[in-house]
Amino acid sequence: MSNKKLLVGNWKMNLGPSRAKELAATFLPLTRTLTRCEVWFTPPFTSINAVAEVVRNSAVRLGAQNVHWTESGAFTGEVSVSMLRECGCSYAITGHSERRHVFAETSGLVAQRTLGALALNFDVILCVGEKLTDRESGKTLEVIKDQLAPVLKDLTPSLASHLILAYEPVWAIGTGKVASIQDIEQTHRGIIDHWKQSSTTPCPPILYGGSVDQDNVGAILKVEGVGGCLIGGASIHPEKFPKIVAIAEK
Ligand code: PGA
Repeated sequence: MSNKKLLVGNWKMNLGPSRAKELAATFLPLTRTLTRCEVWFTPPFTSINAVAEVVRNSAVRLGAQNVHWTESGAFTGEVSVSMLRECGCSYAITGHSERRHVFAETSGLVAQRTLGALALNFDVILCVGEKLTDRESGKTLEVIKDQLAPVLKDLTPSLASHLILAYEPVWAIGTGKVASIQDIEQTHRGIIDHWKQSSTTPCPPILYGGSVDQDNVGAILKVEGVGGCLIGGASIHPEKFPKIVAIAEK
């Protein structure tokens, strides 16, 4: 995986095919000359094909917001790696806090998704992060370790080479509350140290996510151990996202 800072837009359940295509076309010129960062788009499933038409032959990578671990079968509501590949995707997000906390996906289920997709040479951005009550009771790393455990248990070096982590404190997602630089640095360091103790595979790049915007992205990207950002709201904002890209490229 590249050493450039990653700016991954998580478009969540926003933008149907025509609006997604329009936005991708607006953002595409910004990405043409990038040398220090990469831009990836993660539209909702039904908009992937439309965005793929726009980003074909560009450096922008296209991903999905979730993925199932088997190829096909009776799994209502799910999509597989081969289906996503056919639409132009090369990665998926797993374990996003909205999947864990709104849709009750357990760390075991998230690990199944993650390991299954990695085994098919699909890149995966695995999200971890604590709730406010966890942070307030000093349990941030404990929670993250539990979330990582079922993945680490079966991770081989070849699977790990396709993995990216995203640290997203749940209380910072979509709230406008950003973790302090010190909190981000400390948690990323904690994840790296834990990884080194628990796995023989090198620690994957770790993105930070949670209310990233044009005002904080510069400082966040300078934090040691931050490999880029997973960006929700600001990634579909026509003025904010170009500013974020310009700052990351400086
Ligand atoms: P946010 O979302 O930037 O809107 O806080 C981040 C995410 O959910 O990945």
